[in-house]
Amino acid sequence: MKLSHRIMHLTEGGSDGWGVFYRARELKAQGHAVTELTIGEHDVGTAPDILAEMYASARDGHTGYASVPGTDLLRDTVAARVQTRTGVPTKRHNVLITPGGQAALFAAHTAVCNPGDTGLYLDPYYATYPGTIRGVGAVAKAVQTHAQDAFQPRAEEIDKHADGAVSLLINTPNNPTGVVYTPETLGAIAETCKRRDLWLISDEVYDTQVWEGTHLSPRALPDMADRTLVIGSMSKSHAMTGSRCGWVIGPEEVIDHLINLATHTTYGVPGFIQDAASFALSAGQGPEEEVAAPFRRRREIAGRILARQNVVGLVPAHGAMYLMLDIRATGLSGEGFANTLLDTHAIAVMPGESFGKAAAGHVRVAMTIDDEKFGDSLQVLCDFAGELSRSAAAS
Ligand SMILES: Cc1ncc(COP(=O)(O)O)c(C=O)c1O
Repeated sequence: MKLSHRIMHLTEGGSDGWGVFYRARELKAQGHAVTELTIGEHDVGTAPDILAEMYASARDGHTGYASVPGTDLLRDTVAARVQTRTGVPTKRHNVLITPGGQAALFAAHTAVCNPGDTGLYLDPYYATYPGTIRGVGAVAKAVQTHAQDAFQPRAEEIDKHADGAVSLLINTPNNPTGVVYTPETLGAIAETCKRRDLWLISDEVYDTQVWEGTHLSPRALPDMADRTLVIGSMSKSHAMTGSRCGWVIGPEEVIDHLINLATHTTYGVPGFIQDAASFALSAGQGPEEEVAAPFRRRREIAGRILARQNVVGLVPAHGAMYLMLDIRATGLSGEGFANTLLDTHAIAVMPGESFGKAAAGHVRVAMTIDDEKFGDSLQVLCDFAGELSRSAAAS
């Protein structure tokens, strides 16, 4: 029996740079001690008071089908939070609750891309982006960013790829680079979207993890609210990755259609999860800062370690739970370096090549283990890079 072209070509196959990750997992399963600095999973679980609320809601009977667009309470809470943070008037009817940010990304692209349309995304990118765009039948087209620009996108390169495109997907604070787009970058992107009539899909799932400056949502820029769909999530802000609770924010007309999509796909998010999310958001910024604090601390630890050497470069990391390290001075590719580091020191990092072409010669480090172990592992990585660069220079 034949399967659809769309499902067969969701991912492109071939080496995708995730081999190191799978190898690390396999070594662990065989009982080897491996330090994993790979994926974006907090080293703390969901807070006990959020879990208690989840349980209380379930016990009180919120275990049946929940309202498909999201409960009124959660939609109102998310709308109020977005309005407070961005100043953009936002009501319940601008919010669709989804099973995580990933489902929100899929919904947003479904809303704006016809089969065969081009959806743009920026390289380096979060691993699911191209597959998500292909998943709605659109053509996924990468626009490169550059290490020498600290991976801030160039609006003129987006413009160059905009013929036939209907959407542009951006992510700030950024996974994998840890870069936060500057107001100038976002302003230029917004102008390009307006000039080329592109929908802007703005993935802001790391909006509570900004280490310098403040988060700017491009939906707040002049005349952007009507062409921007914002992706949000409880995953990163409240360590609720497994609860699968996120949202799309957009114009009411788009949300109306997306409710229809949700009716025919997910049929909503469990009510007890939504109640827990409403409770968590109502607690304000304090708990969000608590979840973000370890990453802020570890970024500072990393800054001190990296300042003591000159082989490994640090891409300016202003947000999110990752550091992108430039290891080109070792003479190895990101993949080569990550594999050798795993083999010789049992430390797993993600090759930059797992996130596209632009971050080749880099590795991404997730700051997701306790401070002391994190510092020690980073020191080992730097010492190892130093040895490699000395032997590269000598040969
Ligand atoms: C940039 C980015 N967007 C979206 C997601 C999806 O998050 P979730 O579906 O857990 O909300 C992730 C997860 O790591 C991410 O890094």
